[in-house]
Amino acid sequence: MSTAILSALPEEQAGLVQALAQPQRIIHAGRSFWRGELYDRPVVLALSGMGKVAAATTATALIERFGAARILFTGVAGGVGDGVRVGDVVVASDYLQHDMDASPLFPRWELPGYGAARLACDTALTAMLVHAASACLERMGGALGSQAGGGAAPRVHQGLVASGDRFVSAAQDAHALRTALHAAGHPVLAVEMEGAAVAQVCADYRVPFAAMRTISDRADDMAHVDFNRFVATVASRYADHIVGDWLRL
Ligand code: ADE
Repeated sequence: MSTAILSALPEEQAGLVQALAQPQRIIHAGRSFWRGELYDRPVVLALSGMGKVAAATTATALIERFGAARILFTGVAGGVGDGVRVGDVVVASDYLQHDMDASPLFPRWELPGYGAARLACDTALTAMLVHAASACLERMGGALGSQAGGGAAPRVHQGLVASGDRFVSAAQDAHALRTALHAAGHPVLAVEMEGAAVAQVCADYRVPFAAMRTISDRADDMAHVDFNRFVATVASRYADHIVGDWLRL
């Protein structure tokens, strides 16, 4: 039984590939997959690229071709919830596609055929992730916090994450998205571009799924600058430590 660890970008995955024992690289569907062992556990690491379709293709390949028994997504996200700051970690409890709109056929954001807008992550894997992230930030939070430039000690949040095929890079857009979702009873903490697609594939295949995102930016007018700075420095260090702890639980 192998665990798949999926990221969108090489920077989000770098440390995990370095830590991989007996690495074996396989090219499939135009992507690189790495089989090996992380902390004596069999894993397959995958890079999806950005966006929901790329993420869905990769998740499907992980299940169909690599026999993934559970999938963990690790990467960065834009913080849109109150108090969700650069350097914090968001563990997804559930996912929504913020660009899904089949109205008036279905209510706004509802996934046609699923009877709901939100898909839940696996409860047990998610609880383990919250535990691993909290322990990790407590252990090394100071160092990571100052690198992230936030000053304040980084925090772990758990809640709704929204995905869409859009890099949110205007304070006005982030505000509008957040306000509309909150008004409909969807208190979103962070936005990114892949997780909800992986959640949907995993729901279809009944494969347990969990996701953690470190906050690289606030999805505002400076998002692209903060994103580039953060993803190259801190993002993968979080993943190494938190994923390592999570695998050992
Ligand atoms: N991933 C990281 N930051 C993001 C943003 N602002 N919008 C969408 N995806 C992101």
